[in-house]
Amino acid sequence: MKTKIQKSLSRDSFPFLAILLALMVFFSPRIYGNGQIVAPETRETLAPYDLRIEYLTNPLGVDVSQPRFFWKNNHSERGQKQAAYELIVSTSPTAEKGDMWETGKVNSDSSIQIAYEGKALQSNQTYYWKVRIWDEQGRVSPWSQVARFDTGLLSPSDWKGEWIGGDNLLRKEFELPSTPRRARVFISGLGYYELRINGRKVGDHVLDPGWTTFSKRALYVTYDVTRALRKGRNALAVMLGQGWYKDRALMLQLNVEGEDGSLTEIHSDTSWKTAAGPIIEDSIYNGENYDARLEQPGWDQPGFEEKDWKPAQKVKAPGGVLSAQLMPAIKVIETIVPLKMTSPAPGVYVFDLGQNISGWAQLRVRGPRGTDVRLRFAELLYDNGMINQENLRSARAEDHYILKGEGEEIWEPRFTYHGFRYIEVTGYPGTPKIDSVRGRVVHTAVAPVGNFSCSKQILNDIQRIILWGQKTNLHSIPTDCDQRDERMGWMGDAQVTAEEAMMNYDMAAFYTNFLRNIRDVQGDDGSITDTVPHIWGSRPADPAWGTAYPLIAWYMYQYYSDKRILEEHYDSLKKYVEFLKSKAENGLVKYSYYGDWVAIDKCPGSLVSAFYYYYDVKILAEAARILGKQQEAEAYFKLAAQIKEAFNREFLDQATRNYAGGSQTANTLPLFIGLAPDKARGGVWGNLFNDLVYKHDSHLTTGIIGTKYILDVLTMFGNSDLAYDIMTKTDFPSYGYMIKNGATTLWELWQKREGPSMNSHNHPMFGSVGAWFYRALAGINLAPDSIAFKKLIIRPQMVRDLTHASGSIYTINGQVSCSWEKGDRRIKLNVEVPVGSQAEVYLPVFKLRNLKLYEGQVLLWSDNELKNKAAGVDSLELKGGNFILKVGSGSYHFILEGE
Ligand code: BGC
Repeated sequence: MKTKIQKSLSRDSFPFLAILLALMVFFSPRIYGNGQIVAPETRETLAPYDLRIEYLTNPLGVDVSQPRFFWKNNHSERGQKQAAYELIVSTSPTAEKGDMWETGKVNSDSSIQIAYEGKALQSNQTYYWKVRIWDEQGRVSPWSQVARFDTGLLSPSDWKGEWIGGDNLLRKEFELPSTPRRARVFISGLGYYELRINGRKVGDHVLDPGWTTFSKRALYVTYDVTRALRKGRNALAVMLGQGWYKDRALMLQLNVEGEDGSLTEIHSDTSWKTAAGPIIEDSIYNGENYDARLEQPGWDQPGFEEKDWKPAQKVKAPGGVLSAQLMPAIKVIETIVPLKMTSPAPGVYVFDLGQNISGWAQLRVRGPRGTDVRLRFAELLYDNGMINQENLRSARAEDHYILKGEGEEIWEPRFTYHGFRYIEVTGYPGTPKIDSVRGRVVHTAVAPVGNFSCSKQILNDIQRIILWGQKTNLHSIPTDCDQRDERMGWMGDAQVTAEEAMMNYDMAAFYTNFLRNIRDVQGDDGSITDTVPHIWGSRPADPAWGTAYPLIAWYMYQYYSDKRILEEHYDSLKKYVEFLKSKAENGLVKYSYYGDWVAIDKCPGSLVSAFYYYYDVKILAEAARILGKQQEAEAYFKLAAQIKEAFNREFLDQATRNYAGGSQTANTLPLFIGLAPDKARGGVWGNLFNDLVYKHDSHLTTGIIGTKYILDVLTMFGNSDLAYDIMTKTDFPSYGYMIKNGATTLWELWQKREGPSMNSHNHPMFGSVGAWFYRALAGINLAPDSIAFKKLIIRPQMVRDLTHASGSIYTINGQVSCSWEKGDRRIKLNVEVPVGSQAEVYLPVFKLRNLKLYEGQVLLWSDNELKNKAAGVDSLELKGGNFILKVGSGSYHFILEGE
């Protein structure tokens, strides 16, 4: 790759490069004398880009009556901001006017969360929209490209079909009088469905639809099937799996508009036919058994002879509402060819993917009809090379493929998934090749938005296993693990990882859905449950698990400016807080089941619960304030103050300045959230520091709760060096210890265990520290009281021997990035701030003297004084060992030199 680029550069690109260079010189701001800036003569205006509706790109099936619009802005000059926008929504892609909505020119710097206020949207329509903006100098941008969205079925009465079932194959043939002009299918196939039209799979979703509390809500998915259909005879075919529904039921509606204006509607009813297919058994935990001899060729095509097919039956409806699945679907994300194949016993082949994944294996095989190939999955191997499935507990994780004996057969399961690194193949006819099986990585297709890397390899390794652990545990809900007999939406795991997830992936639509799932489990008494949907665990949830509800709602507000989430959930959040309050004794909620789960040094669960009670009440108070509910805000802030008092009365030892025995977690939580009284803060901090450094040689003894906050607390107290020491350890207990022992995803426990006890090797919960990489090492922070990265604090911690770090987050308002390099007498800092945002940038000067600070070619500071100004840099001062710069949008390249 590299050589190719170099070659093409040297041969043909010189004239191009020369012109580019000339343009760069011409357009770069020129500085004259005393810091006076002369702007470039010409400006390239740029249209808004990345248009979204409800966080999604050109979504289908939007069932929100006032969907929200999002776009991002670009500008060729620094320090820019949108001053106004104009948006039109119309029924035609080429319209110059908005027949549905025209905002006119709106003076606003907001380019996100703009709620629709046009004419009432109709069911099953396509709407087109575009937007343009004005900058602060009154210059208008070109119109954006046209984006679109489709509405779903907005009212229950739009659904004409009924829930049907039978065997796992369902089909229906029908006639279309003309070529379709527009066709949409709406489908909810429980537990899982695969939809096929005229012999081909529709769309690229797998394990669809997402998991919900089916008695409250089932999700439906909308597809554009205009091109899959044709004039004349067509066939709709659906394969159903059990999934979490543990049964089969289909609701489907197809609406077709013909070129001739004809309207055809097909829906699920008892005129459909059903028969058993090749999937003999399917279970999420146990696997899938597929007998290819039972395939019915042509069943998904028109003209199929429905011999032995029976009429579909009406089945019991799941019971709740149908809602559009407005989040990325689960998909096959990548395919991995194994690194290694071994044969630890005759006829037993073990493939190593080199990476623990969630998904399944694709099998390639040739052999006699009736041969049963067995695939078993595991995270671990025994010393003798055989797979170790002990930690899967009761999950069998075993697929079978029975050959039909017709040349090369390629198969993969549809309605199960496994968490594994190793695949054991037995019953294979002959000797398999290394690529006879491939790993298929399967999870919710959230877009990656973050990047972090630095000069310390162990931290890059940790970042890598955090990412793998995180994404492979997104399966329409955040799961605790992907391999054993759980894979539940454990709320504690969900809340501790949420911020890390939001920095690494676009989680907005995903969590919007999850929060609704949480609301769906709420009882009349306000209680919620440990897992959502509720299968395992208790009602009421451990407060450290239930807090996922207020906390994720709050993060949605902080990271995406999602005030609607606060509005829509306010009443339920309040009910939840009132529930906690009803359980409080003397101002403290003390009941706890898990507390600081899987800690090495126990912190009393009652302290953890009391901490989250305080946190939840504060969030509710903030939400009330933001929503203009002044009185409620005051009441809850007052309650928070009472909890604070009770907390210290109960847990703070005034003599030793330790909380509840002084474990790392017990002292961390009150420091993190400001519960520790001012006069005790220093003492508590000292105890925490001593415990970490002297008692544990810079190792954590925290469980998942303490771990989430402890590094931030160390940075808060100016001890990022210590946080770095902790994160770079490789002996027990540490992240490096996991990596040294071969982890490719995070473990559930600090300890290395591989037996039948609880020891998943893919549990994302300790990945919460990933947020600290961005905040501390890459220095990307939301300013206090700011939301959606409108105000940033860029303050990289240039710790110890770290010589470089870089991070970027493609935020809801655009790209934020920071990268730095530290040499002997030179520090480079590159910062990128999106249009409309401002950043306060901290550049530490360490012990350097005779400082010179440049931005690009411009000398900003030398001889202890300001020299010149650079475009976009509003202020610069040297204070407390840092240069502090206030900058507007744009890319900056700072260079600090000294002696
Ligand atoms: C899960 C955890 C979960 C916990 C509750 C475990 O079985 O795997 O991650 O949070 O139970 O304590």
